[in-house]
Formats: sequence, structure tokens, C-alpha cells
Amino acid sequence: MKFPIVAAYAASVLSTAGLVAGDPNVIQVRAEDLQVRKHGGHSFKISQIFNHKYQHKVKGKGIRDVAKVYQKFNMEFPDHLRQALIRVFGDLGLKVPGNINALNNGLFGPSETVGNQGEVVSTPVQFDVQYLAPVQIGTPPQTVNMNFDTGSSDLWVFSSDTPAKQRNGQKIYNMTESTTAGRVDGHVWRISYGDGSSSSGNVYTDKVSIGGVEVEKQAVEVATHVSNSFTNDAASSGLVGLAFDSINQVSPRKQKTFFGNAIEDLAMPLFSANLNKAEPGNYNFGFLDTTEFVGPISFVDVDSSKGFWQFEATGFTLPASNCTESNNKTGVFQSVPHTGIADTGTTLLMLPQPIVDAYYTQIAKARSDNNYGGYVFPCNADLPDLILHIGSYQARLTGDLIKYAPADTDDFATAKWCYGGLQSSQGFPFAIYGDIFFKSQFVVFQGGELDKNDWSKGAKLGFAAKPGTELPKETKVAQDILPINNVTSILSRRRTGGASSRRTD
Ligand SMILES: *[C@@H]1O[C@H](CO)[C@@H](O)[C@H](O)[C@H]1NC(C)=O
Ligand SMILES: *[C@@H]1O[C@H](CO)[C@@H](O)[C@H](O)[C@H]1NC(C)=O
Ligand SMILES: *[C@@H]1O[C@H](CO)[C@@H](O)[C@H](O)[C@H]1NC(C)=O
Ligand SMILES: *[C@@H]1O[C@H](CO)[C@@H](O)[C@H](O)[C@H]1NC(C)=O
Repeated sequence: MKFPIVAAYAASVLSTAGLVAGDPNVIQVRAEDLQVRKHGGHSFKISQIFNHKYQHKVKGKGIRDVAKVYQKFNMEFPDHLRQALIRVFGDLGLKVPGNINALNNGLFGPSETVGNQGEVVSTPVQFDVQYLAPVQIGTPPQTVNMNFDTGSSDLWVFSSDTPAKQRNGQKIYNMTESTTAGRVDGHVWRISYGDGSSSSGNVYTDKVSIGGVEVEKQAVEVATHVSNSFTNDAASSGLVGLAFDSINQVSPRKQKTFFGNAIEDLAMPLFSANLNKAEPGNYNFGFLDTTEFVGPISFVDVDSSKGFWQFEATGFTLPASNCTESNNKTGVFQSVPHTGIADTGTTLLMLPQPIVDAYYTQIAKARSDNNYGGYVFPCNADLPDLILHIGSYQARLTGDLIKYAPADTDDFATAKWCYGGLQSSQGFPFAIYGDIFFKSQFVVFQGGELDKNDWSKGAKLGFAAKPGTELPKETKVAQDILPINNVTSILSRRRTGGASSRRTD
């Protein structure tokens, strides 16, 4: 076995490491070897809270989540998706949002709608999120609940500048009530979406505190206009973008994210996402909680050039395959190299078509159906696991995570068809590892330390199983962990760190 030299990585926070060969390079770090970098540095856990306005019983949930991904990555809805959305709104007796019609040139006139509009007072939550996290802005602190999004880089919030008619009960940040709020003159922000809508506004700096870690002058982007989909989500006051600073949408000068500002003060230059199925999860900043994952953490390089937490994945294994004898791929690694991004702000797991097709081929009667906007299958099917390979790391998604939403009714109890949490990323520039993936994996977002002024240089993503998602015992792990006492260059850094990974200040 050949061990790569990772001198640069030795300068990183993870002061002891086992190295494994692989493509992409995977560096495994044992939990007991995790070190704090900065004594007295900050660390905190921020627990999610359930969005009590979350509408899990709304028909067409799957397709609305797909639409949200198109919106987020500023891609126009394909025709079949647009039509399926119009159908969903019609079924619900709702007015089709103007922005769908706007894209619908030729199919419908500009004001044409479907469904029984008379019964509608307002459109429902279209793109709501299930879990939020509390954020404090200003002096004295104003607490608002926001969505942590590793797929964008703006901290934007409903504010006293947001017109009343674009608000829907959201808690707002009122700049005039904060003694530390200051306008960043001449700076504005605007985020456009693929369906033609956008959110935009002015820029302030203010004290922002998350879990007790304070950034004195955080750019807070206050909305003067929000698109419908955000107006409709009454419990969420905005987003905390946690991707790289380069895709921040403030002009003329881009602003730093909360993590970009806080990183210098953190005990370890990282945060972790621990999301769960059907219960609130948490984010940790500055430390790793060893009770949240099992086994070593496997770190891979991040390509931050597009501003996302982008990494290379290599393929998949179907651990239990329902196929013919002649075409039996059970337990066989199948190579589908692809680029993915780790995005907590996307609900679904969107992977290359060959992986998605191979997965659903195992399930009797599963089919890709334009009416539902993607793969559906009989709700009574027993879904097999899926193993995704990121170099030598194997992430096990349990089948239950892929049974995502009822498709033909609004309730699992009555639905015959269920919508898959795994869908195709065809047409997107990369695969999107969204919440379905996060619910099976503990994921570490580690800032790089190669360049003091640019934490994107040398950034890494770490993956580990969560309790219950370990690989089955019989699964052969591709590489062994190198004994720590063989990594002398990294070992020498051990002495600088403290003993434990968890700190609170
Ligand atoms: C913001 O705070 C000011 C001062 O307390 C108050 O007059 C104003 O009504 C508030 N704006 C909103 C939209 O709540
Ligand atoms: C496929 O291969 C696996 C493992 O060798 C075996 O257990 C299974 O029965 C095979 N399935 C079919 C349909 O041949
Ligand atoms: C496996 O596939 C066959 C043929 O499509 C189907 O009859 C059978 O029900 C499937 N089994 C499961 C568990 O999905
Ligand atoms: C360290 O690894 C090298 C191979 O890279 C091996 O030759 C050597 O024996 C190892 N030393 C120890 C102490 O394990």
C-alpha cells in the first residue's frame, strides 16, 4: 500500500491522523485523536427546533422539493416539472403562483390559472423547512429562527424593511431597535432563482450570535423584497449561508459568512452537521462531539472554486440487489465517478441518473413518473440500503431514508405511491448531497488553514457513520487505518492540542 505525503494537512487542526491511499484521497482520523487547536477558543452546539408551521401533510411534497432545488441553483424548470407543479397546485385548489406562469410562455397566458381559486385565501407553505435554528441579531439581541444552509453564502433575514404584505408572521430583525446596527452604505444584495423570482435588499452589519459565539460586525442582509416561496414559510426568518464567501451575493463588495468571520475564534476551524430523520438535529461549531458518530472520520479534499462544499465521489454498491442471476451486481462496487456538493439546504439526495436507475430497478413497480416529478414506488415496498462511495469511504444510506413522502395522497397511511428521497441530478452541474444523505451521515465542514486570509484553501469535508448507519459487519472496508505512530510529522503537532474535543467557554 502506498501512503500519500500530506505535509500540508499536517499543518491542519486535526493533529493526528491515519492515512489511507485512495482516489480521491481519504484521510481517516480517529475520534480519540481529535485535537483542539486553540485553547480558550470557542465551541458550541446549536440544536435545531421543529418548525411548528411545517406542513408535512401537503400533497405534492416531493415535487415541490424538486422545484426548490431548481430554484436554488437558478435553473429553469424543465417543461414536465412545470406542468407537474401546475397540476399539483390545481389539485390543491390553489392559484398557480405567477412565477410559474411567467416561465410558461405559450402554455398559459400571463394571468391564467387552474383550480378552484375561490376557496383560496393564501397559497400554502410551498417550500417550508422542517427544522430551524435560533440566531440572535443586534443589541439587545433579537432572536429569529433561521435555516442553516451549506449550499449558499448569505445571511439574510426578514426585517423591518420587508414590506408587510410580503411577510406572513415571520419574526423580523428590526434594525432601528439595535444600537449596534450600521448600514453598509451603497451595498445591496440580490438572489435570483430559476423560476424568475428573487429576494433582495440592503446590507447592515450587526452583532450576530449563534450558540453563544459572537461576531461583532457580521453582514446582515435585510430583505426589502422576498420571493413568494419565502413569504409562505411563516416560521423561517431567513437563511444562514455556510458555503464559501466567494458566492456571497452582496455587491459591490462580497461579505463574509458567519463561519468565515467566526473561524479564527473557534477551538477547531470546523462545524459539523448531525441531522436526523423525524427529529431535530444539531450543528456544532468549533468541536466534534464523539457521541454523534461511529468510527473514524474520513476526510476528503474540497474544491471550493465554485463556492460550494464540492467533492469527488466514486460510485455505489447495492448491498441487496433484486436482479437476475446473469446480471447480479449484489455487493459489487459500481464505478460512477461524479462531483457532488454537500448541501444542508436541499432536502433531497440528487445523484447521477445511472445510480438512481440502478437503485430503483431493485424495487418492483418503481418508476420515474413525470406526473409526480421523479421516481415513485409502491409505499408498501421494503426499500434496500444504498452504499455510496467517496473514495475509500463508504456511506450507508438505510432504505427507510429513501421513503421520503406520500405521492398520491397527503398521508403515508393512505398513499399507494411514495416519492423517493433519491432523485436524478440530470441537468445539474453536480450531484447534490442533501438532507436525505445527512440523515445517514455525520458530516464535518472543515475550513482550510493553508492561507491565513482565505479559509477556503485546504478546506475538507469529513464523513462518518451515525449510530445505526455503520456498514454491515461483513462489508469489507477498502483500506486499513495507518497506525498513528507512523505519522511522525503529524504526531509532532499532538503536543500543541488539548485532550478533549469538546469545550465550552
Ligand atoms: C421597528 O422598531 C421601531 C422602534 O421601536 C418601531 O417604531 C417600528 O414600528 C418597528 N418596525 C416594525 C416593522 O416592527
Ligand atoms: C446475487 O448474488 C448474491 C451474492 O453472491 C446472492 O446472495 C444472490 O442470491 C444472487 N441473486 C440472484 C438473483 O442471483
Ligand atoms: C424483485 O423483482 C421482481 C421482478 O421485478 C418482483 O416480482 C419482486 O416483487 C421484486 N422483489 C422485491 C422485494 O421488490
Ligand atoms: C511505517 O510505514 C512504513 C511504510 O510506509 C513501514 O515500512 C514501516 O515499517 C512503518 N513503521 C511502523 C512503526 O509501523
